Amino acid sequence: MKIVVIQGPNLNMLGVREKNIYGPMKLEDIHAQMKGFADQNKIEIEFFQSNLEGEIVDRIQECVGEAQGIIINPAAYTHTSIAIRDALSAVQIPAIEVHLSNIYQREEFRQKSLIAPVSAGQITGMGPFGYHLAMVGMTQIFNELNAMKQAQKAQEQTQAQANK
Ligand code: DQA
Repeated sequence: MKIVVIQGPNLNMLGVREKNIYGPMKLEDIHAQMKGFADQNKIEIEFFQSNLEGEIVDRIQECVGEAQGIIINPAAYTHTSIAIRDALSAVQIPAIEVHLSNIYQREEFRQKSLIAPVSAGQITGMGPFGYHLAMVGMTQIFNELNAMKQAQKAQEQTQAQANK
C-alpha cells in the first residue's frame, strides 16, 4: 500500500513562516516522522510540495494506479480551489485533509474548505501531530479496505463451490 503526501503553497516555509501559528517544525522534519511511521507499518510513502495549483492537480491525477491513499494539506488552496477538489473527486482515492492550525478559529475566509466534502476526513488544529493522526487514519482505511477485499474473495470462493 502506498500513500502520497501532498503539501500546498508556502508549506515549504514551515519553521520560518508565522511560527506563532504554524510552530517551529520544518516540513522535512514532519516528513521524516511520517516516513518512520510508514516504515514501521510497511507502507510506502512519497512526499510532494508545490506552490502551484496545476502541479498539485497533476500530482493528484498521477496517483491513479500508484497510490491507495492521499494525505493533503492544500494550504491556501483549501479555501479557493475547485480544481483541486475536482481532481480529488475524480481519482476516487481516499484522501485525508490536514491543517496545522484550526481553520475554524481563524479568519472567516479560512473557515470554509472546498476539499472537506471530497475527503474521507479532516484533521485541523493539531499542529504537526495532525500528520501522524492522518497516517493512523489512513492505516485504518487500508485495514478496512483489506478486510472488505478478503470478505469478497471468501464470498466468491463459496459461490464458486456452490456452482460446481
Ligand atoms: C493551513 C491553513 C490555511 O488557511 C493556510 O492558508 C495555510 C496553512 C494550515 O495548515 O493550517 O497555508 O492549511
